[in-house]
Amino acid sequence: MLEIKNLTVQIEDKKILDGLNLTVKKGEVAAIMGPNGSGKSTLSYVIAGKEDYVVLDGEILLDGENILELEPNERAARGLFLAFQYPLEIPGVATMTFLKAALNAQRKARGEAELSTPDFMRRVNAAAQQLHIEKDMLKRALNVGFSGGEKKRMEILQMALLQPRFCILDETDSGLDIDALRIVAEGVNALRSPDRSFLVITHYQRLLNHIVPDTVHVMANGRVVRSGGPELALELEKNGYADYRQQAA
Ligand SMILES: Nc1ncnc2c1ncn2[C@@H]1O[C@H](COP(=O)(O)OP(=O)(O)OP(=O)(O)O)[C@@H](O)[C@H]1O
Ligand SMILES: [Mg+2]
Repeated sequence: MLEIKNLTVQIEDKKILDGLNLTVKKGEVAAIMGPNGSGKSTLSYVIAGKEDYVVLDGEILLDGENILELEPNERAARGLFLAFQYPLEIPGVATMTFLKAALNAQRKARGEAELSTPDFMRRVNAAAQQLHIEKDMLKRALNVGFSGGEKKRMEILQMALLQPRFCILDETDSGLDIDALRIVAEGVNALRSPDRSFLVITHYQRLLNHIVPDTVHVMANGRVVRSGGPELALELEKNGYADYRQQAA
């Protein structure tokens, strides 16, 4: 489903991704771990299509199509979704309004009809309930004044509504309390399907106890330096990244 080949990316004359290769199959949950600054968020931004990054080499194929040529909204319409490490605040735009606009923009891009307001409300309320998000919160401006954990839950609400085919979660577990971690993980697990893939960026095994990955990849210095199964995460938890830092030196 997602195939990244030799991805080399720089920003402001600094090479951040350096010949990165990664394949995530259909239906697979792939975890990415790696030291701070190894390029995990950069990878997620480049997949989603954030500006500012200069792709020097390589390609990102989503079902065989090189998405590097596409605008961020075109990528989203093809079913790509990124839950940000630091969700953006949008003052003046009610969360509900934002969600409806996002969902209908994608439907339009796919040639589908807009959802009626009652139909939309039913979907939002069901997703909010599952994620223990108060209805009142949906009336507030998106993420403005939300606590860290509330912002992360709102990202998962967006994901549940948009039903993307390829979901990237960048440290969605950071800032969540113990109950919220379980609720968010349940939200993610409920979306697991043979037709949907996930790239889950995390520093901690604790999330992977709830969202058990099929594969685990270690990033260091802008590339994937090791891949394995869930046991690799346990090994990292025990040994840290010392081996990989030495490799880099
Ligand atoms: N606009 C920028 N200008 C210069 N350097 C940048 C810029 N954006 C990112 N970097 C650098 O790229 C490297 C990778 O950053 P990135 O955020 O991808 O790391 P990460 O693996 O997500 O780290 P963390 O685990 O702390 O979230 C860092 O050294 C960072 O300082
Ligand atoms: Mg990061």
